[in-house]
Amino acid sequence: MPKDPVPALLARAAERLNEQFDYLPPVADGLENRADTVSDSPLDPLSDSLSDPAIDPLMAVLDRTAERLGDNYPYFHPLYAGQMLKPPHPVARAAYALAMAINPNNHARDGGRASSEMEIEAVAGIAAMFGWKDGGFLGHLTSSGTIANLEALWIAGQSGAGTHATQGNRIVGSAQAHYTHQRISAVLKLDYASVATDDRGRMDLGALEDELRRGDVGTVVATLGTTAIGAIDPLDGILELRKRYGFRVHVDAAYGGYFKLIPDELEEPARRAFAAIAEADSIVVDPHKHGLQPYGCGCVLFRDPGVGRFYKHDSPYTYFTSKELQLHPSEQKSLAGGPVHLGEISLECSRAGASAVALWATQELLPLEPGGEFARGLAAGRRAAVELDRRLRADKRVECLAAGGPELDIVVWKLAAASAKEAAEAAQGVFDACAARNLHLALVQLPQPWFQPHAEGLELVTCLRSVLMKPEHEAWLDRIWQVYDAAGKGVLGRGQ
Ligand SMILES: Cc1ncc(COP(=O)(O)O)c(C=O)c1O
Repeated sequence: MPKDPVPALLARAAERLNEQFDYLPPVADGLENRADTVSDSPLDPLSDSLSDPAIDPLMAVLDRTAERLGDNYPYFHPLYAGQMLKPPHPVARAAYALAMAINPNNHARDGGRASSEMEIEAVAGIAAMFGWKDGGFLGHLTSSGTIANLEALWIAGQSGAGTHATQGNRIVGSAQAHYTHQRISAVLKLDYASVATDDRGRMDLGALEDELRRGDVGTVVATLGTTAIGAIDPLDGILELRKRYGFRVHVDAAYGGYFKLIPDELEEPARRAFAAIAEADSIVVDPHKHGLQPYGCGCVLFRDPGVGRFYKHDSPYTYFTSKELQLHPSEQKSLAGGPVHLGEISLECSRAGASAVALWATQELLPLEPGGEFARGLAAGRRAAVELDRRLRADKRVECLAAGGPELDIVVWKLAAASAKEAAEAAQGVFDACAARNLHLALVQLPQPWFQPHAEGLELVTCLRSVLMKPEHEAWLDRIWQVYDAAGKGVLGRGQ
């Protein structure tokens, strides 16, 4: 290969980008007691590679690129505790960047031999986390949770009706399921209905049974980790209903899937739901949410490898060199109709081989094992959320979820006020005051009765929300609380 100027260019531009976030306290400030804190020493500038004058215009553009990128919230920093944003692990970033020297395409083995193997291995690691092993499944990476869910519901639409007691193909998900399911159903021309939740945001089994009695539900979408509050639908109860009514169960664990690794940190209902996950027909999990990956990495898994038949197609363009198959040998056996490539079990054609490479490298370093370093990182964020919720409950300016604390690592709270309008204004005020102090929270609209059980109807109220998905959030919680408290005093007065 010719000498690659990219590492040096990247090192230089990364310094420029870092400088723009110099106003923040060093991440290590909250981590004094941790031996594994990464040192801040500057990268080797690799300056030789940049001495060629032909590189000057690239450097100039990259300087401007770094400057533009400075116009972002500091997602990588523990004081960013707002939306679902978690920095990719350094090994994932490095492996992704390395793969860019090849730029493999995991559509078919012709475009990405090694990265296709790595995808198969990485996906098998995820499937094993859910209890699916040795070819008893079919799965692949996708460019997002949306596409992964689209594929799951597309398969559901084709395989649901007729194979169960049900007569229809209607899809139902909870009122807190991600809005993508309703949109995907419309794209697939499948009817969709929302099922009411309880006051902790979990699918209400009574309301689900009302839908099932109509006899036309083909698929129930169970969300393990809702986007708004991280609620866990009662999958075990849904599976009980499946015995009576017969339907496919799709689990959208795009956000919450990895919490399967830390059952002891969860409350009993969530633990039961995760324990039942292997009985689902399909599962979606997003490595680009909790799996430490750059964006562009979702994953869909099917319990029955035979659903590969719905994907199969002929391609006159690719597969010339692909005598070998791109599936695990045990998956190949179970597919009717013979050999397939990853491109033949995926709706997307070209897919970033680099995503698979980054995921593979991350799972090599941090295997998906209970008690392992990856699992401990999830547990730290979960503990941070439980602790934040505890502190909020002691604050008389705040109303927390009346039915209980967070199920995962997402905390929501309403500010006490005479009306929903005033509560919304107060939430916006605290949100802005925190942001002015570099603490970034999020806002979310939730049903008022979740916070005030005696409130009538389902009026939505704007609340504050914090997603504590970085392991560092635990060590930073005191600091986060101090900033929040100071900001809150300015807007709401004293709380204790
Ligand atoms: C539960 C759930 N499902 C699906 C999605 C959509 O995933 P993506 O944004 O990767 O398309 C999200 C995103 O937040 C989610 O939280």
